[in-house]
Amino acid sequence: MAMTADGKISTANGVVSSFGSAYDQHRLLLLRSKADAVMAGARTVEASSITLGPGGLRYRRLRIRQGLKEYNLRIVVSGSGRISRRAEVFRYRHSPVIVLTTRRASRAAVRRLESVADEVKICGERTVDFPRAMRWLRKKWKVKCLLCEGGGELNAALFAAGLVNELNLTICPRVFGGHAAPTIADGVGVRSLVQASQLRLKSMKRVDDELFLVYRVLPRR
Ligand SMILES: NC(=O)c1ccc[n+]([C@@H]2O[C@H](COP(=O)([O-])OP(=O)(O)OC[C@H]3O[C@@H](n4cnc5c(N)ncnc54)[C@H](OP(=O)(O)O)[C@@H]3O)[C@@H](O)[C@H]2O)c1
Repeated sequence: MAMTADGKISTANGVVSSFGSAYDQHRLLLLRSKADAVMAGARTVEASSITLGPGGLRYRRLRIRQGLKEYNLRIVVSGSGRISRRAEVFRYRHSPVIVLTTRRASRAAVRRLESVADEVKICGERTVDFPRAMRWLRKKWKVKCLLCEGGGELNAALFAAGLVNELNLTICPRVFGGHAAPTIADGVGVRSLVQASQLRLKSMKRVDDELFLVYRVLPRR
């Protein structure tokens, strides 16, 4: 996740969400090159021209050298199933796109998504049951390493489920402000300190005015 110095991942009106440097983009593609699957929430895939693909030949070669498929699997999360079928992620057919949804999605919505995605999986009643979804992804699609690229609502659900091992954070030298601007973890949030995910800083690198932080998420007691 790339965030501003005031902790925002996009402007409040959602217009700006890409503000990291070229080096930040390179690091993102390096992360993708290690992942079996890349996942994002419905608002993220609708808000930008994100395809969740591996990027250029250089990164695809890296994947192959690491024993992975040339193109990563792509996963979109939409509990309502009301994600736009015009999202860029559905336009590129280089690797399967899976939509994780819930029983809230109408039959018509599921049918519409099936026309653009390779599989639509109902996993949960009102919100996606991520532990169950992860087990299914591992069994059916052999996903061992999954990279989640936000947004804040999806990240919060994964933290709440205790499913995040590592957080890669880029702090960019800007301030956006705005109550409504998303942050790296939104949702309802924790109510007490004991519920907070605890992190240990693994590495930190400064390049020009950006900071690249990698945190390990400590297991829950
Ligand atoms: N700077 C960065 O690095 C970065 C990275 C990613 C995104 N962004 C920006 O962040 C903004 C989007 O973030 P966001 O928090 O608003 O949205 P988001 O997390 O991308 O998507 C939220 C949607 O995902 C689905 N969803 C999330 N968690 C779910 C759960 N537990 N169960 C079922 N469905 C779930 C729901 O879709 P339905 O409503 O369809 O049910 C929900 O409305 C965009 O502006 C994007 O560009 C920035």
